[in-house]
Amino acid sequence: MLAMNKYKILGTAVITIAASVVFTSCKDKRSTGWEYAPNMYEHIAYDPDQKNPNFKDGKTAQVPPAGTIPVGFVKFDYPNTKEGYEQASLEVKNPLAMTTQNMTDGKALFTTFCSPCHGVSGKADGTVVAHGFPAPPSYSTGQSSRGGAMKDLTDGKIYHTITYGLNNMGSYASQLAPEERWKVVMYVHHLQTL
Ligand code: HEC
Repeated sequence: MLAMNKYKILGTAVITIAASVVFTSCKDKRSTGWEYAPNMYEHIAYDPDQKNPNFKDGKTAQVPPAGTIPVGFVKFDYPNTKEGYEQASLEVKNPLAMTTQNMTDGKALFTTFCSPCHGVSGKADGTVVAHGFPAPPSYSTGQSSRGGAMKDLTDGKIYHTITYGLNNMGSYASQLAPEERWKVVMYVHHLQTL
């Protein structure tokens, strides 16, 4: 009886293994085999790289119409030129209220992104400068390379600088969202008084 069972178990195992070998081996090595729920692969929606007769240019991936901006995008319509910088200085004001929270956030962002060069006190005593990077002018006592004292830099000038960078200083537009930039501007004003 036991011997019979042994053969049955062995037989079943052999059949199962043989069946799975047959089912899983494919002629084409790159084939993914049987597709479960194939309409997840062959869906009716167009893939972005597929031809599409519904659009004039025949492409599925359409570019947004000229002049459109993403929801929530904040425009800064001042070019990266001396004129744009001066214009921003006259017209742009920090939209954020001077609160302890904004100031605290500004300090944290400044410490992370700006202090390596400008120093925690804004006097160009950052660690990168200590290692030989050209020192920026001090916010409180230096002169801007674009004219005027650093302590007189306006909201617009500082925001313009963070957005575009200046010479050895890179742009921080991809690291800091507009609201974060304004928090940093607020904190730079504090450093100008030190
Ligand atoms: C890699 C070093 C470095 C970092 C990091 C850096 N800066 Fe600068 N920054 C400079 C240098 C160098 C200058 C002087 C550029 C010049 O005048 O040629 C400068 C100049 C400035 C000026 C003066 C602009 C003007 O009109 O004269 C401001 C304002 C400023 N930085 C703000 C910031 C803020 C805010 C951050 C952080 C978001 C920051 N910087 C990060 C190096 C840096």
